[in-house]
Amino acid sequence: MGGLPPIYRASAAPWDFQPQGSFRQRSPSGTWRSLELHKHHRALGLATAPIGTAVVSGAADIAKDRPVQPVTLLRPHAARRAARFFAEKFPGRSLYAVKSNPSPELLRVLWDSGVTHYDVASLGEVRLVAETLPQATLCFMHPVKAPESIAEAYHAYGVRTFSLDSLDELEKIVEATATDGVAASDLNLLVRLRVSSEHSKLSLAAKFGAEPHEVKPLLFAARQAADALGICFHVGSQAMTPAAYAEAMARVRDAIVEAAVTVDIVDVGGGFPSSYPGMEPPPLENYFAVIHEAFEKLPISYSAELWCEPGRALCAEYASVLVRVEKRRGDELYINDGAYGALFDAAHIGWRFPVALVRAEPSRARPMGFSFYGPTCDDLDHMTGPFELPGDVQAGDYIEIGMLGAYGCAMRTGFNGFGPEARIFVEDEPMASLYGAAAAPARSNVVTL
Ligand SMILES: Cc1ncc(COP(=O)(O)O)c(C=O)c1O
Repeated sequence: MGGLPPIYRASAAPWDFQPQGSFRQRSPSGTWRSLELHKHHRALGLATAPIGTAVVSGAADIAKDRPVQPVTLLRPHAARRAARFFAEKFPGRSLYAVKSNPSPELLRVLWDSGVTHYDVASLGEVRLVAETLPQATLCFMHPVKAPESIAEAYHAYGVRTFSLDSLDELEKIVEATATDGVAASDLNLLVRLRVSSEHSKLSLAAKFGAEPHEVKPLLFAARQAADALGICFHVGSQAMTPAAYAEAMARVRDAIVEAAVTVDIVDVGGGFPSSYPGMEPPPLENYFAVIHEAFEKLPISYSAELWCEPGRALCAEYASVLVRVEKRRGDELYINDGAYGALFDAAHIGWRFPVALVRAEPSRARPMGFSFYGPTCDDLDHMTGPFELPGDVQAGDYIEIGMLGAYGCAMRTGFNGFGPEARIFVEDEPMASLYGAAAAPARSNVVTL
């Protein structure tokens, strides 16, 4: 290796929401690399030498320097490819759901790839995106908002698009966006329907969404207050079949027919899947085709717009995390990231992620299933897996855990003092992909240095 990997600031945990300005540069060799070396890199257990000229191709380059803290590997090319895929193939507008990964450098990659609209769910996300991407259009798609947040979003940040699922929320939006007692005339209001999450791995059916009997009066009232009226829904995250959208679109159709209102926007939400072990979905084109067909049959005008709000599908492939094994107890590996770090879903909903042992010598041991313990003192900091790795994994080994760009890096906390991690741009492909040429079988679970 011609030098040490470029290393930049450790992220604050949770995301610090500060625009991070100038830490990104395209090197002559085409590699994304850092301009900053973290002052306290020694404390992070990372390389202590100045930035080298090496191309960081992937986890093996980083493991050579034996980092003590987890390292997040960032793949801008993967996010760019996903964004372009949606831009080219989704038959409407794609909003990025910021909650899935709010890191500013990712937001810039998506913006540069043509994503102009952002689904934000809190004032913190409104401020973050407005500061990072001043030209972006923000859509406040949380159906239950604080009046103060609505007012600041509308008056200070120019947000015009809001979702709602009750008459109370509609009233709140109308009041908070009024100026000197005069109601706003430029609101885009999207009524969220409750739809089934039965085809999805993560339900979003319990908390939000108007019930069928509430929809007619709500659409009617929202129509009076809106410049543009929309209907939105969320089929749940990681929807494993396009049928989820076909069924939800049937609810949209019923609602429009019953309320007999003019609808300007149909927003099919997020839920588009990524590829994880044991959860390999059909091609995304199949989802788009089903949505397009259902949209075309809706009783709406020719000028009505179709929107979607992908989170996971745009960023899951963007990041993986390199962790170190600190202890082995039978088939349990104690690693330095966990439930309070990037592995929330692995711990709390038993999600499995692709893993690869990163070691100097290839392992000839037979693969076996391991569970992971994270670094905190908490029993809950346990990821059942099983994660399949060569049977001779031991303390001191490094493991790359893939597909953590969505709801992984975004969920980090500083609990027990284990929060900050280093982040490095790498060039290699994600451990699995749904996009184009990279939609190949998952990588091998052994990587040599
Ligand atoms: C309103 C809304 N839109 C979009 C998303 C993104 O969903 P996904 O990551 O499944 O695409 C979410 C996720 O919770 C959401 O609540």
